[in-house]
Parts: sequence; C-alpha cells; structure tokens
Amino acid sequence: MGLSNCKLQSRKQVGSSWVGNESENPFEIILNKKDRTCLRESFQRLQEPKEIVGIIFVDIVNDIEPDLRTVFGVNRAPKAAMLSMPKLGGHVARFTDLLEQITSMLGVSENLTGAWQLVRKTGRVHAKQAFLEQNFNQLEKNYFEIVLNVFDQRLIPYLTGEKEEPVPEGTAPRKVRFAQSYTPDVVTVVWKKFFSILVAQMTDAFELERTKMRNSQNQKTLAPHQHVENEVKKKKRISERQSEIEQTANSVEKGPEQLFEDPF
Ligand code: HEM
Repeated sequence: MGLSNCKLQSRKQVGSSWVGNESENPFEIILNKKDRTCLRESFQRLQEPKEIVGIIFVDIVNDIEPDLRTVFGVNRAPKAAMLSMPKLGGHVARFTDLLEQITSMLGVSENLTGAWQLVRKTGRVHAKQAFLEQNFNQLEKNYFEIVLNVFDQRLIPYLTGEKEEPVPEGTAPRKVRFAQSYTPDVVTVVWKKFFSILVAQMTDAFELERTKMRNSQNQKTLAPHQHVENEVKKKKRISERQSEIEQTANSVEKGPEQLFEDPF
C-alpha cells in the first residue's frame, strides 16, 4: 500500500471535516508535554477566568472592533451593563468554557485528538454567523486573530502572575495561591503558541465550512436555464443506465457466450 493510502486510512472523519492522524495534530507538534501541563496549571491559577475574559471582550467591542457590538447585541447598552446582555455574556461564558475544556484535555486527560476536534468545530460553527460569513477575510480582517491578539496582550499577564486579578466589589479576599512553578517567560511563550494554534485551526476550519456552505447555496440558486440543463443531463443519465440494463438482460437471455476452438 502506498504512503498516501496509508495516510488516508489513518484519517478520521469528524463531522463534516477531516482531522489528520496524531502526528499532524498541532497540539502534539507545537506543544510538548511540559508546555501542555504549563498551559493547564497557569490557567488554573485564575480564580475567576470568566471575569477577566468578560473585561477583555468589553474592551474588544468598545475600543478595538466596534463593528462587533451589533453581533453581540450591545449596541445600545452602556459599558457597565454589557456583560449582562445575553449574547455578549453568553459568548464570554462559552469562550471561557472552551479554554477550560481545552486546557484540561491537553494538560490533564491528554486527549489531544479531542482538543483538536473541538477547536476545529468551534471554527466551523462561526461560519454560520452572518457577520463573519460576510466580513471575515483571512488577509485583511481575520476576526479570530484580532480577538486572540488582544487576549495575547491582556490575558497572559494574569496567567504569568504579573497582574493581579480584579476583585469584584463585595467579594471576599482571594485565597492564597501556590507559587507558580513556571517562569513568566515560559508561560508567555506557551500561551502565545497556544493562541497561534487556535487562530490557524479555527481559520482553516471556518474557511472550509464557509466554502462548503457557499457551494451548496450556489447549487440551490442555479439560474433557471441551469436547472433545465441539469434536468436534461439527469434524463440522459437515466436513459443511458436503462439501456445498459436492457443490453445486459438481453445478453443473459441469449445464454452464455460460445467459445469456439482455436483452429490453429
Ligand atoms: C459562539 C468561541 C470569536 C461570534 C461561540 C462558541 C464558542 C466561541 C466556544 C460556542 C460554540 C457552540 O455553540 O458550539 C470563540 C473563540 C473566538 C470567537 C475562541 C476567538 C477566536 C468570535 C468572533 C465573533 C464570534 C470574532 C464575531 C462575530 C460568535 C457568536 C456565537 C459564537 C455570535 C453564537 C453565540 C450564541 O449563540 O450565543 N464562540 N469565538 N465569535 N461566537 Fe465565537
């Protein structure tokens, strides 16, 4: 069996997209085991990750990409009330859950395939968002990259311990945490690598899904003459198949082909 066949056989179909074998998994290639543990442990040092993710998203929709305000239903909301709006609040919760789930899959259960599938699925589901479907442009406006670049700058200082988490008003003082076992430089490098994997994988899965959706949409919106042409082609295929069946039936009726002895 050729190498390409071997490779093909080891691929698994996940939903509508293909995920390669483990040797192609970016979480395996780009991060080593120590990196993956560091990712998990540094994420776990956050007491209220959702709070921080929320603050960062509010900054994104206000200062960096105001176009996203409509998408997240906070166009008219004052800044202080934005996180209580269901779309933005819901997205912050899902985003935080995703980080929790992936860092756990990478650093605890070592389910690298699952982590890869989850990231690709997340990229795919975004193709269904009308705003992204229309405005996402890998080279000029890659929204995953824009968002994760802000996380790169604003989340990492909390993960390294350089920045203290904000304490929401009226809450008890923070529990004393164990010392971080990784240097800030190590944590920074690992998270930068992690975010770059998310951008690459989400973008790729998003683009594939969008192309698929557009192709099937084009198929549905064929011009009237194309529908007629398709119908003619279909009828021709059916009649060809029919005549093949008849020919086969005739030759069976005639009985087995006679083999004559070679006169030489
Ligand atoms: C939904 C993560 C960027 C808009 C989601 C979900 C996740 C997620 C985990 C839930 C998916 C599911 O239901 O299976 C992320 C991550 C992003 C990102 C990690 C950054 C890289 C964006 C951007 C937009 C966006 C830039 C802007 C249009 C949405 C919307 C939903 C969604 C509208 C559906 C929300 C809902 O139904 O409540 N996202 N997202 N996301 N995302 Fe994102």
